[in-house]
Amino acid sequence: MVPRLLFLIFALLVLASPCSAKTGYLLVAFGSSAPGANAAYEAIEQAYRARFPGSPIVWAWTSQKIRAKLGARGCRMLSIAEGLDRLAAAGVDEVVIQSLHAMPGAEFAALARSALTRVDRDRDKFRAVYLGRPLLESVADAEAAIDAALASLEDRRPGDAVVFMAHGNDKGRAELALAGAAAVLRAKDKLAWLTGVEGGEPLDSIIAALKKARVRKVWLAPFMIVAGEHAQNDLAGPDPDSWASRLRAAGFAVETSLKGLGETPGAAEIFLRHSGARDDDLTREPLKP
Ligand code: CO
Repeated sequence: MVPRLLFLIFALLVLASPCSAKTGYLLVAFGSSAPGANAAYEAIEQAYRARFPGSPIVWAWTSQKIRAKLGARGCRMLSIAEGLDRLAAAGVDEVVIQSLHAMPGAEFAALARSALTRVDRDRDKFRAVYLGRPLLESVADAEAAIDAALASLEDRRPGDAVVFMAHGNDKGRAELALAGAAAVLRAKDKLAWLTGVEGGEPLDSIIAALKKARVRKVWLAPFMIVAGEHAQNDLAGPDPDSWASRLRAAGFAVETSLKGLGETPGAAEIFLRHSGARDDDLTREPLKP
């Protein structure tokens, strides 16, 4: 009886101690309404559930347009503020806000600013709020993401080329991250190219390089977290402007692999690593006032 009582007291002390933080995860994505795009989000969520069993995991989507579109279909996706409220209601006192963006571009900057504004408004809600950086934050991340993307092309044969479609941006940090990732890819695989829907090397210049390398078959795959609208239409769609159509018109045999990076275990692992870094607590001022 006494040992059991002691154990109970010990357990209560541990539960009440300030060291036993209850951590929750807010996974923040742009969002997608394309059919089939959810596979990547589901895979990432599975990876988080497996790594942090019992921890609350909540989603927030930043695209107003996509949230409104899904809301009209009866599927309500939370905003960042609503997601934080839900974690607070679940008794979480330490939050990891994990960006599920591919690059630290405009969308990530908006997420960081929104999160900071919110945390500043509700100072007492959480003991710590960490911000997990996007997929391509370092050269090591680019190496890992590219390994994951290349490994997912299981049916690619020697001599087959691959062109990855990133979203990209024609300005700012995302442009730099895209150029960096493209360079890492070129160093790894002489028959692989990476460029963006917005920004990056023009497809015509890649087509010229493919011809020069005497390539016959080209694989097309998205280098985006989800295989959404851009992958399904701009990359692989039947429209004459799609990359698949342009490559076919240039004489190449084309195969498509419409799997989002989020569906590859390697990419999910990068996000998990960034969630574990916990070096950017938004509740603390980095500089002395
Ligand atoms: Co877009």
